[in-house]
Order: sequence, then structure tokens, then C-alpha cells
Amino acid sequence: MKKELHDTITATITGLGIFLPERILSNADLEKMVDTSNEWIMTRSGIEERRIASDTEFPSTMGAKAALQALNDAAVEAKDVDAILVSSMTPDYLCPSTAALIQHEIGAKKASALDIQAACSGFIYGLSLAKAWIESGIYNNVLVIATEKNSAYVDYQDRTTCVLFGDGAGAALVQKNGSGYAIRHVCLGADGEQSELITIPASGSRIPASQETLNLRQHYLKMMGKEVFKHAVRRMEAAASDCLEKAGIAQEELSWLIPHQANIRIMEAIAKRFNIPWERVYRTIQHFGNTSSSTVPIALSLLDSKEKPKKNEHLLLVAFGGGLTWGAALLTKV
Ligand code: ACO
Repeated sequence: MKKELHDTITATITGLGIFLPERILSNADLEKMVDTSNEWIMTRSGIEERRIASDTEFPSTMGAKAALQALNDAAVEAKDVDAILVSSMTPDYLCPSTAALIQHEIGAKKASALDIQAACSGFIYGLSLAKAWIESGIYNNVLVIATEKNSAYVDYQDRTTCVLFGDGAGAALVQKNGSGYAIRHVCLGADGEQSELITIPASGSRIPASQETLNLRQHYLKMMGKEVFKHAVRRMEAAASDCLEKAGIAQEELSWLIPHQANIRIMEAIAKRFNIPWERVYRTIQHFGNTSSSTVPIALSLLDSKEKPKKNEHLLLVAFGGGLTWGAALLTKV
């Protein structure tokens, strides 16, 4: 007899939440800051506007708000959370972890707390860890949060990067079975040989902060966009194919593709290679830009509330980022 998904323990996303700062930075605003144009930004990236955190909004506070929404969505109390995983490439501090700050902020007193650094792929890395913890019986309630204040690391004098990034947070509660999105399979990968393509050169222990690093603007994000573009398409396509194959799902069975929202042209290239209709590729990039690791949970949460996927529909998440890192996750609505 064919086994149903919940005959066995399957890690399932039972709650979703997001937080987006109110302040909007439009392309017209950027035209006044650097030598760029709405036309260039739209045709090269597909971004119309992005959200920017205020001086009192940080990855921890934004992540906490998204996490509380996810808990509320699943009707679970913070005191029952066993573990908090936080993906952020723009953490509040190098130490303590953003996960520990969120643990305190939401009152999840018994939860362990761990930060993940896998750049834009971090949410999918987090889902993989949560799945392993839940399915091995170690934990019952795991929060996976992706939260980014990119505006703190973006150089608003560098037109090649500043037009692309925005701030925001997304969160998922992962539990044993339940209704939501079963995490069927997760595929992860990395290529450290290409580590120089996306970097924040200074303020780590290799190049500590100094007046010279400040003068050279080395505390800001640097990205070799053209090179990254090529790797992004290739790696995301391979991860997505691998994940589908391992989950035993055919391309035609997919209802939604939710790619990392870095560039509309990368998303178009992947949709084409996957032969998935463009209207089935969920897009938020026009409104929020690239919010690093939080693009995927923000998109998943909005898709869930607006499109209301039906039982047994399959969703494929796929992301790519600095490291280089990449990952894909196949979810089934249950
Ligand atoms: N406005 C106007 N002109 C610009 C701007 C701008 N904002 N930025 C660059 N240009 C110019 C360049 O100087 C260049 O001019 P030149 O030909 O005179 O030298 C020209 O536009 C073309 O620049 P390219 O870099 O070739 O533009 P491209 O089409 O590659 O688009 C982009 C750049 C949008 C960055 C693209 O390469 C991209 O999206 N790359 C992938 C980014 C990505 O996927 N990141 C994911 C990971 S992010 C993370 O992990 C943090």
C-alpha cells in the first residue's frame, strides 16, 4: 500500500510570518542619490521599489515580529519553541547571535538559538536543519527566521549594488506533521572557490575595522554582478532539478516556483529552463528588491495568503547567494 505523507514523521511548515519596514525607497529616490535611472533599474533588475528599515529596526526586531506572526499563524506559544534558527548576512552583532536576541525578544525561554551564515540561501539551509531536528525526534517546534537589514551594509555611493537591495524578514514554524507545507526534500550546495564574487571585505578578523578600511569603504557589500548572474542561473537550476528528482516529483507537477528574488532576468531564465509558466513563478522583487535570505520566506508567506495553494500542490523553493551557496526545497501542501 502506498504510504501517505503523514504515515511517517514529516517536518511541516505550520505557520508563516513576515515583517516589512514601512519606509519605501523608490527608483526615483535613487536617481537623486547616484547616477542611475528608473529605466536602467527596471530593465536590468525588475525592481520598482524596496523597503528600508528605520534607525530603530534591526534584524533582531524585524525577525522577532515575523516570528511572532508565524507562531500566531500556527497557534503555538513562544514558550513552547524548542529551537530558533536565524539566517542573516547582516546580523545585529558578530556576537551575540541574532537568534539569541530574538529568543529573548519573543520570550522563547526554553529555545536553543543558532545563527546560520549562508547568505541568500540561509533560509533553505535553515529548513534543512529544522527538518533533520524534527524528523530525528530531537525537537518538536523549530522557528526558522531569515532577517536582513541590507541597508546597513549597502554602499549608497555604489550604483552597481545600492539599487538592488532592501530590508525585511520572514519566518516559518516547523513542526512534526500538522497542516501547512510538508518539507519533502532539501538539497544544499556550496562553492567556496568563488567566495570573492560577493563579499563584505572588512570588519571580520581577517581585515579588522580601521580608519583605512573605513576610508576604502570596505565595510560595504561588494558584488561582481555579471559573474554572479551566470553562477546563479546554473546553480539554481541544478539544485532545483536535483531536489525534484530526489523528491520524486516531475517538473509538470509543480504548481509554484519560488526563486530567490535577486533579479527578474535570473528568474525568467530559470522559469524558461524549467518550462514553468511565468504566472506560476511567484514574484515580489518589484516591491521589495533583493532582501537576501528573507526573499524566499517573504514570498512563500505572501503566496500562502494570497494564492492559497490547495492540498497536494507542490511548491519549489530555490535560492542562491554569497559563499557561494545554493539550495532548493520541495514543499507539498498538506
Ligand atoms: N545605473 C545605471 N548604470 C549602471 C548601474 C546603475 N545602477 N549599475 C551598473 N551600471 C552600468 C555599469 O557601470 C555598466 O556600464 P559600462 O558598460 O559603461 O561599464 C553597465 O551598466 C552594465 O553593467 P553590468 O554589470 O554589465 O549590468 P548587468 O546587466 O550584469 O546587471 C546586475 C547588473 C543587475 C547586478 C546583474 O548582474 C545581477 O543581478 N547579478 C546577479 C546578482 C545576484 O544574483 N545576486 C544574488 C546573490 S546576492 C547576495 O548573496 C547578497
